[in-house]
Amino acid sequence: MKNKNFILKNVKYFDVETNRILFTKKLFIKDGRISFKSPSNITLYNSIDCKDYTLFPSFIQSHTHICQNLIKGYAEEMQLYEWLKKVVLPYEKNLKKETLSLSCRLSLYELIDSGTTTIVDMGTFENQEIIFEEIENSKITGYSGNVLMDRSFGGVRTGLKHYEEYSRWLIELVKKYKNTKYILCPRFVPGLTEKGIKVLLKLRDEYSLIVHSHSSETISENLFTQKEYNLSNIEFLEKNGILDGKTILAHCIHLSENDRKILKRKNVNVAHCPSANGKLFSGIMDLTGLYREGINVGIGSDGPPCNNNTDQIFEMRLAKHFQNIIYGKNSIKANEIFKMATVNGAKTLGIEKETGSIKENFFADFILVENDINVSSFDKDPSSGFIFSVYPENIKFVFSKGIPLKFNGKVLNYDKTELVKEKKKILKYLFSNRL
Ligand code: GUN
Ligand code: FE
Repeated sequence: MKNKNFILKNVKYFDVETNRILFTKKLFIKDGRISFKSPSNITLYNSIDCKDYTLFPSFIQSHTHICQNLIKGYAEEMQLYEWLKKVVLPYEKNLKKETLSLSCRLSLYELIDSGTTTIVDMGTFENQEIIFEEIENSKITGYSGNVLMDRSFGGVRTGLKHYEEYSRWLIELVKKYKNTKYILCPRFVPGLTEKGIKVLLKLRDEYSLIVHSHSSETISENLFTQKEYNLSNIEFLEKNGILDGKTILAHCIHLSENDRKILKRKNVNVAHCPSANGKLFSGIMDLTGLYREGINVGIGSDGPPCNNNTDQIFEMRLAKHFQNIIYGKNSIKANEIFKMATVNGAKTLGIEKETGSIKENFFADFILVENDINVSSFDKDPSSGFIFSVYPENIKFVFSKGIPLKFNGKVLNYDKTELVKEKKKILKYLFSNRL
């Protein structure tokens, strides 16, 4: 391809605010951004005729773990604590640079293939620089950070002195990247001490960082803080000064009335991960209730072994099904769920004026969806039509900041056959000392 500028012709595009499909004869992608206005020099543009597609904003996942891809299918039929202790934490502790790199590339391939171009990622204990490098190479936008777990859980613990030094080194390192940002990742309350939180808050305040954690995913986590501090997870996090508008908490299933009031008062962002909540038997989050109370909620696929895929559309569909079952006709609308997967995801990161919808001068972060036999009509309720019928294979083009990452149905920049080969080879040695 000659350059990074495109003219999209005959464009039916989705306006997430009004839940309508609009039309423009020409849409310009210039220097990574969207423009409805014709630029002066047209000849330097590549052109795509979009008459057979509908354009939607690409997805923003508010919670993922790209380092966990290699244990997809190896952590089945377990609740969170057993799942963490038996498989996930030993796996993460044993990751070497090569295996971590492969896990990230597998996740990034899947994310791009299914239309995600921004992620909030929970990194891991060591070799976090590999995760940053792979995110930057992928050309999606990624927020990630090394994990803090300074209270031993399942025999795994991060030393505080090392954590602080390593974090400072990573914060500096990441400055050289364009699309990769550093965030703080305290893993979850049962893996934290109050002393550890103080170190984390020092870094947060010094560098003005986003804090990304898990909370209230299981009853066991609340029992832990009740026993230790006579507080719920959320009350504990509030007491220790973690919660504010730059906090993203994944799950938030087991919440008291007071917990919900705290989340609202502190403007905390929640990441909803319905398939992980189902696969790990954790419970159904009250998405409709939280939404009505005005809490900002994004959506994410969580780690690959939580649900065995990284597809945001699957999460949106499951979110809607779970809420329909609980609330019936009073359930949150499909369009609100589409907003969570895009605009509200951008809000969790404070980038909603730059991405998440198709607007003049916004980043050109979008997908083109084909009109295949399984795909619903988008005439009546495009959000509902999309959520219930589109699959990753119907996404033919994915653009991230104006750069095509999937083109004519093929993910660029990665060799799928090679990835599968590498994965097969590595899985033979998984959990052995050779990793
Ligand atoms: N809580 C602490 N660590 C994890 C994790 O890796 N995945 C999920 N789903 N919950 C967690
Ligand atoms: Fe998670």
